[in-house]
Formats: sequence, structure tokens, C-alpha cells
Amino acid sequence: MADKVLGIFGHPVAHSLSPAMHNHAARLLGLGYTYVAFDVRPESLRRAVESVRTLGIVGVNVTVPHKEKVARLVDKLDGDAKIVGAVNTITLKDGRLIGTNTDGVGFLRSLTEEKINPAGKTAVIIGAGGSSCSIGLSLLRAGASGITVVNRSSAGGEKLVRLLSPFGKISFVPSSSPSVADAFSEADIVVQTTPLGMKKSDPLPIANPSFFHSGQIVYDIIYAPEKTKLLKWAEKKGARTMNGLTMLVQQGSESFKTWTGQRFPEKKVLGFLKKLLKERADG
Ligand code: ATR
Repeated sequence: MADKVLGIFGHPVAHSLSPAMHNHAARLLGLGYTYVAFDVRPESLRRAVESVRTLGIVGVNVTVPHKEKVARLVDKLDGDAKIVGAVNTITLKDGRLIGTNTDGVGFLRSLTEEKINPAGKTAVIIGAGGSSCSIGLSLLRAGASGITVVNRSSAGGEKLVRLLSPFGKISFVPSSSPSVADAFSEADIVVQTTPLGMKKSDPLPIANPSFFHSGQIVYDIIYAPEKTKLLKWAEKKGARTMNGLTMLVQQGSESFKTWTGQRFPEKKVLGFLKKLLKERADG
């Protein structure tokens, strides 16, 4: 029997752990799926999305920088994708391309795994892109008492507030504003969603990390490196830290279930990825 194809569209995409993660899961379950990384340039995105239908690809993940554009290219948006206007999962269903977003559920489940309940807690989210919006939505739905979005540009921050204000208390503070200090000092949970921290040469995503303190949770959705500069700072200040690996597995688990109807072997996959990342870091 020919393999059924899954994949990911991104640019660049070579660094993605999703192929290793999904192929490992399919192997563990004895399923005939092969997951491929497709480096799709922005100018080819429309044709790439159409090719899912043409080639009968079962489904694909979508990553940076395509999540928002893909929301305008699929036949139908379902669930969170409809609200946040960003898609991380395309599924071919009866000849139609369905766009969904599993980032929010993945984030929330990663908190549950750590026995963290955001109900009644305040959060600061750094960044205002697609991931930030999904995470903000999931926090408000889970009963977070208020969210402050801290972002470089006002356009992104204000758009996010417009999209999410029907779901709870949310405001925007530009990264350069002095009131960022209060927001960080008062937050129970800080979530970092920008790409800053992936490269060694990256600056910190906030000007002053000295506001972190014990009793706070500082969560960086980056998983490689295992500890970004921001997480190292937070740890030094006594905060509890989390990286993005469990969220990666949980959002992948939800996509996998949509495509295959099968339960994702989450614990085994997480163990496999930790080992793989360690091997990569050790060079
Ligand atoms: P994703 O889908 O992963 O959330 P995205 O939609 O491209 O990715 O969003 C990236 C976020 O990181 C944005 O909030 C972006 O800030 P702007 O809205 O000002 O563009 C932020 N970001 C990206 N590069 C950044 C940088 N060098 N400094 C600060 N913020 C940055």
C-alpha cells in the first residue's frame, strides 16, 4: 500500500521538529503515513495549498510565515482558526481544504500537564502574531482574569486586542512603554511568543527582565535552545520556567488525531524529542 502523505509548509522549515515527531508517532502506531517538510516560498503558497487537494495529501501543518495567509486560501475555517484568522493545520476532507488551529489547545494542555490552571490569573503575552492570538484566546477561555499584550508594533498589538476583547479583559502596551514594567511585575504568567531567542545572537525580547520574581511562571514557546536567555533570566530571578516542547507535542497530537483518527503517543514522542534535541545540541 502506498504511504499516505502528511507534511508541513514553512519558510524556512529545515529546523522544524514536526517531521521527526509525526514520523516517529506513525512508526510507533504502525500507520502508513509519511510526513514531509516542504519549504514553501511566500510567492508559491497559493499553489502549494492547492497541491494538497491535487495530490491527495491527507493534511499539512502550517508554520512561520504562512499561518495567516493560509487562513485566506483554504475552503473553510473551523474552530479557533475562525477567530484568530491563522491556520496551523490543513486537512483534506471530501475534496475540501479545512483550516484549523491547534496552537491554543496545545498550549492549554501543556499547562495542564504541569498542573497549572490559568483561571483567575493575570498574564502578559510578548508578541502579537498568530501564536500569541491562539494562546491569548485559550487563556481567556480558561478563565484568565486579564491579559496584557506587549508588542513591538502597535498595529499587531491593537489587532489582537480587537480580536480577543469579546472573550475577556485584554489590553495592549507597546514594548517601548514604561508601563511594561508594571505589567511584568504584576503578571502571574508571562508567555513569550516572538522568534527572539532562537538564535544565540538574538537580543532579549524585553528591555528589562529584572521584573521577574518567584511565584511567577515564565513560559517561552521556543524549544530550541532548551533554555532561551529569557528563561535563564527568569530562573535566576526565582520564577518557574517552561519551554515550548510540550506545546509542540500537544498541538501536534491534536493535528495528528484530526488527520488519522488515532491517538498520538504523547509521552513516548516527548521522550523521543528530548533525546533528539539533546543529540542536536551536543552536536
Ligand atoms: P507566529 O505565527 O509564530 O506568532 P508571527 O505571526 O510572524 O509568528 O508573529 C511574530 C511576532 O513576533 C509578532 O508579534 C512580531 O512583532 P510585530 O507585530 O511588531 O511584527 C514579533 N517579532 C518578530 N520579530 C521581532 C523582533 N525582531 N523584535 C521584536 N518582535 C518581533
